[in-house]
Amino acid sequence: MTDIEHIDPERGDFPVAFTWGTSTSSYQIEGARHEDGRVDSIWDTFSARPGRIRDGSSGAVACDHYHRWPEDLDIARSLGTNAYRFSIAWPRIFGDGGTPNGRGLDFYDRLVDGMLERGLQPWPTLYHWDLPQALQDRGGWMARETVHLFADYADAVTRRLGDRVAQWITHNEPWCTAMHGHMDGMHAPGIRDVASALQASHHVLLSHGLAVPVIRANVPGARVGAALSLHPVRPASASREDAAAAHRHDGLRNRWFLDPLFGKGYPRDVLEALRDAAPRIEAGDFDAIAAQTDFTGLNYYFPETIAAAPGEGPLHARVVHREGVERTAFGWEVAPDGMAQLLRRIHAEYGPRAIYVTENGSCYDDAMENGQVHDAQRTSYLARHLAALRDTIAQGVPVAGYFAWSLLDNFEWAEGYTRRFGLTHVDFATQRRILKDSGKWYRAFLHGSAAVS
Ligand code: NOJ
Repeated sequence: MTDIEHIDPERGDFPVAFTWGTSTSSYQIEGARHEDGRVDSIWDTFSARPGRIRDGSSGAVACDHYHRWPEDLDIARSLGTNAYRFSIAWPRIFGDGGTPNGRGLDFYDRLVDGMLERGLQPWPTLYHWDLPQALQDRGGWMARETVHLFADYADAVTRRLGDRVAQWITHNEPWCTAMHGHMDGMHAPGIRDVASALQASHHVLLSHGLAVPVIRANVPGARVGAALSLHPVRPASASREDAAAAHRHDGLRNRWFLDPLFGKGYPRDVLEALRDAAPRIEAGDFDAIAAQTDFTGLNYYFPETIAAAPGEGPLHARVVHREGVERTAFGWEVAPDGMAQLLRRIHAEYGPRAIYVTENGSCYDDAMENGQVHDAQRTSYLARHLAALRDTIAQGVPVAGYFAWSLLDNFEWAEGYTRRFGLTHVDFATQRRILKDSGKWYRAFLHGSAAVS
């Protein structure tokens, strides 16, 4: 921790026109699994498989946001945020192509109007991992057809909402879609195959690139970008082997996505290391992927320390668990300077027009005491990351917004409901929402009167 992080952040330290928000995603909060024509997604299938979700749960009900969205948007407004990032469930709009489901579009229509009524700028993400199962049955992200179906889906959604929504995020965390979905199998569709993962990553990136002009055609003045999960990667020692392993790991974690989005194609070192699993790429793909965007979204959680590990994994590298460092309940290292480092790197090496922190947050084992949640650690996490952000902006990095993950406790994928990231506590038995101390702190910060204690 640097000294400067001890100086509490204040809203007044940030640009006046800064975007302040919270983030959620459809499958994690909506529930209403079969309502208004929604079809199953790969997460409905995956969570029904024994052993895939830690507590055996699913997003079938989740926060019941599909019915409780007015209350949830009221909370977002009460915090003093001016934006709200959410995602659109593809399986509410399309099953396997064909005509869009009007009732699914109606829901997002109401939701967007609800945001505008409350002074919240809508920031939809088109893909936050809930692929229609029918498309998975045809190959999912491993199939090139899905790329074109994604562009059709983007077309249907932006035609309907584009008169009120200017900001569009195509994909959330392509690394997770590709690697958790197809390499380590921790996420739906649960495949474990390096070549499938790289092919999926290529198709996800290409679908982003093809969607950008579609969105621009339907939404004059649209601002479009993707939200990437990036991690600062540090070598475990000063040895040459560890440095090389960290570089390879950084290659697949970060550069594999950043480089093609910014016109550099795939990093050569990764292609060489994984040459037997290289994706099929067609002429023109790289030009499409490098479509000019208006911002880059950074989802930041933690740094990684990497050591050489001959024979381990496709990259002969392994994550080292550092002792004696601060961690969240998930075991993720708390390192606000890592966010600052990434923001500087994105700016210096890729130069996007703007950067938004589209997610940042922490999970702790919250305890309820007399109807209150005193989550001092989450408040501290939030305050220290905002302090790092303030300093990064002061150094000239063009960060234009920050979205805390998450507005609500929700379905944390393979961890089910065992990991709580919300600024608002959700009692999943009663669906009662209670603002945690961290949410109260964010509210006070946004109203210009926060104290970190
Ligand atoms: C990133 C993902 O976008 C989100 O869905 C997830 O809940 C958070 N990280 C926390 O793991």
